[in-house]
Order: sequence, then C-alpha cells, then structure tokens
Amino acid sequence: MSEPDRMAAADLPPGTVRRSGDWAVGNRGDDRYFAVSRRCRHQLADLAGGTVDADGCLVCPWHQSRYDVRTGEMVEGPRGFLSYHGPTPVYTQAVAAFGRLVRLRIRRAVRTGDDVVLE
Ligand code: FES
Repeated sequence: MSEPDRMAAADLPPGTVRRSGDWAVGNRGDDRYFAVSRRCRHQLADLAGGTVDADGCLVCPWHQSRYDVRTGEMVEGPRGFLSYHGPTPVYTQAVAAFGRLVRLRIRRAVRTGDDVVLE
C-alpha cells in the first residue's frame, strides 16, 4: 500500500488551492478540504491554479468554470474559450452539460494533526 499524499495545513489557508501530484487540493474553510483531478473539463487548465469562491466551488483559472468539489461536477460553464473572455451562452451551456456528465475525479482530503492527508 502506498503512503497517502500529504501537505502541511499551514500551506493551505482557507480559499486556496495547491498542487499535490495529480490532484488539486483546496480548503473551503472550517477545515473542509478537498482533492480533485487537476485538468479542467473545458480546455484542460490546471485547476491547482484555481480559487475557491464564496460558495465553496473551485473556479478554473482560465475561463472561470465552477466545480462542486464534493461531486466533481461542473456547475457553471466557461466564460469564453482560448484567449477570448466574455459571454458565450450556447457554448457555455454545452460545455457545462459535458462537465456534468464527465466529472472530475474526487479524493477524500482530511486534516490529520498539522497536515492535510489525501486518502
Ligand atoms: S479551461 Fe477551465 S474554464 Fe476553460
């Protein structure tokens, strides 16, 4: 059995996301941690560079797709594509439908002492 991934909880304050191997690990506040696969379902941005919004969703750094980190489901589609950032209503809905079906992988992340451990 392999050793679980871990990182210092001090390096993961509320609202932040960090990389741990293939995982984007974040803190939703109140010791609610999460780990999801790192590649956005839209155009494969690294979600470890994302942020956590006021609803506790992970927000992609490129076009702001939003993910429910408890399920891995995309709950709001992108605001643009490639280098364009702006409204794309039909496209946004289509990508969101895809992101609801093809979810991010999820992994349990818990606080253990001074560390956050991926189980
Ligand atoms: S790559 Fe994530 S929203 Fe576009």
